Amino acid sequence: MLEDKKRYLITSALPYVNTVKHLGNLVSSLLPADILARYLRQRGEEVLAVCGTDDHGTPSEVSALEAGIPVDKFVEQMYMKQKDIYERFGLSYDLFSRTHTTENTKMTQHLFLKLHENGFIKEKEIQTLYCNNCKRDLPDRYVIGTCPNCKYEHARGDQCENCSKILDGIDLLNPKCIVCGESNTKIRSANHLFLDLDGLEGDLKKWVDSHKNWPKTTLSIANSWLKEGLRPRCISRDLEWGIPIPLEGYTDKVFYVWFDAPIGYISISMEWAKQQGNPDLWKEYWKSSDTYIINFIGKDNVPYHAITFPATLVGANDGFHLADYIKAFQWLNYEKLKFSSSQGIGIFTDTALELYPADYWRYYIMKIAPERHDTDFLWTEFRDSINGDLADTLGNFVHRTLTFINRYFDGKVPKVKKLEKIDHEILKSLKDTAEKADKELRKIEFQRALLSIFDFARECNKYFQTKKPWDDLKKDAKDRAATTLNTCIQCCRGLAILLAPYIPFSAEEIFKLLNLKESVHKQSWDSVSERIAEGHKIPKDIQTIFKKIELEDIIKLGLKWGSESIKELLVTNPQLDPRKEDKPKKVKK
Ligand code: MF3
Ligand code: ZN
Repeated sequence: MLEDKKRYLITSALPYVNTVKHLGNLVSSLLPADILARYLRQRGEEVLAVCGTDDHGTPSEVSALEAGIPVDKFVEQMYMKQKDIYERFGLSYDLFSRTHTTENTKMTQHLFLKLHENGFIKEKEIQTLYCNNCKRDLPDRYVIGTCPNCKYEHARGDQCENCSKILDGIDLLNPKCIVCGESNTKIRSANHLFLDLDGLEGDLKKWVDSHKNWPKTTLSIANSWLKEGLRPRCISRDLEWGIPIPLEGYTDKVFYVWFDAPIGYISISMEWAKQQGNPDLWKEYWKSSDTYIINFIGKDNVPYHAITFPATLVGANDGFHLADYIKAFQWLNYEKLKFSSSQGIGIFTDTALELYPADYWRYYIMKIAPERHDTDFLWTEFRDSINGDLADTLGNFVHRTLTFINRYFDGKVPKVKKLEKIDHEILKSLKDTAEKADKELRKIEFQRALLSIFDFARECNKYFQTKKPWDDLKKDAKDRAATTLNTCIQCCRGLAILLAPYIPFSAEEIFKLLNLKESVHKQSWDSVSERIAEGHKIPKDIQTIFKKIELEDIIKLGLKWGSESIKELLVTNPQLDPRKEDKPKKVKK
């Protein structure tokens, strides 16, 4: 539940820079953060929404190695690529930056030195995995093997992709070096630095316990860590790519990526403040209790946002404010399979944009957002949602309203003579929907808010159907039809405002069709009940906003990318299978 605060700071998990993200990444952090930011801006709130790429760590090194490009160049290229994709998805961050910056280096080193000063950094000799062939240490993703927890065979040295268990390279069964692909490893001893989580456990427990309103997903993972008892966590690595450790004896090592990445939320805010010409502005977001901080993450990120990053801030004792709300999402699956970047399973954000407009994806994946439990992306359902909800419900209502106004009222919003009960009801329902969606969004419940808005859109179509303006026009009851269409166009405007956070491009298009000069994104939420004036002129040419998705196309896509739902469809409708030979052609004589 959002509290009334002076400012809102919204963070979205910083995507690893190394690969283009899939729809699962989009739905669990990037997109909901954007929707909340847009909604709060429409409410007139002061909002800072930050994100950026997570540049360091072995994911970057390993991918750069595979690509045969020096890691700094590779990371730069991939940063540009991801940034561009998110812009095209309409993600409206105040700043999308990265973690490989001077600001982040400075802040990370600063917080580390504070932790050290306050006695929360420990030195320990530990065992690490070493490859005899490559003569190098194998931290994190340099090693894969079998997960000791779930027996998944491609687990990486940092975390198992299958069961989310956080691992240590030496825990893996049958460890294999990813550079040479061989199992010629040994265990070595070396000194490393540890963040003393056990010394901070009491504070963390108190903080978690004081947030009973967090989603179950967040609380259950945070509490299971606390219940198991916190142990010191290694924050140094024998790597070259990363933020150097500013401590004697460790200057040849860098910080573990999960130490510096969340600090990126702070350093990106600092960069933003500089861009605003007010370098201290970030402090109002991070060091003031007037700010409400919300993190958006996938469930595998909970331990870092509910335990290790807050431990950094608490231990550093430097006036930083901890998150007020951690919204964690379950998994979005792809056609009953796990989305996987490493195995290329699923739909990736760049491909998605080549196929359909951003709003199609934004709409469908928020409709099925895994807010409480895992959900499935299904091609068949994607098509049904776009065609049924966006085209037939929303698009159709706007289109018929405007077409009628053009055809029978010379393109001018007709006068209301007398509102009947049914007209009052639909207008009241618009207001109620705004209130209801507002309540849901304040509870950070995206799906429920979206459903309420689409229930209203369906009601609008029903209203049109019930009032039958075409009959009134024939019956010489033009005044009644005028009242209906005036009411309809007010509802179109209202729908665009309420949907603007979810489908920003289409909402803006509706505003253009309504010939409203100001952007829909400048309209306050409460203005849904304001009215378009009588006599207001609308354009002659009313384009269709949502083009329907053809069955054929979706079948092809499903076959190309792999799809259970399409397979099932083809079993029951074999005639739709494009792979079947065409019927033998008649031989021309
Ligand atoms: N890069 C991580 C991932 O993709 C998320 C980092 S979130 C941050 O899982 F807090 F560290 F920034
Ligand atoms: Zn090797």
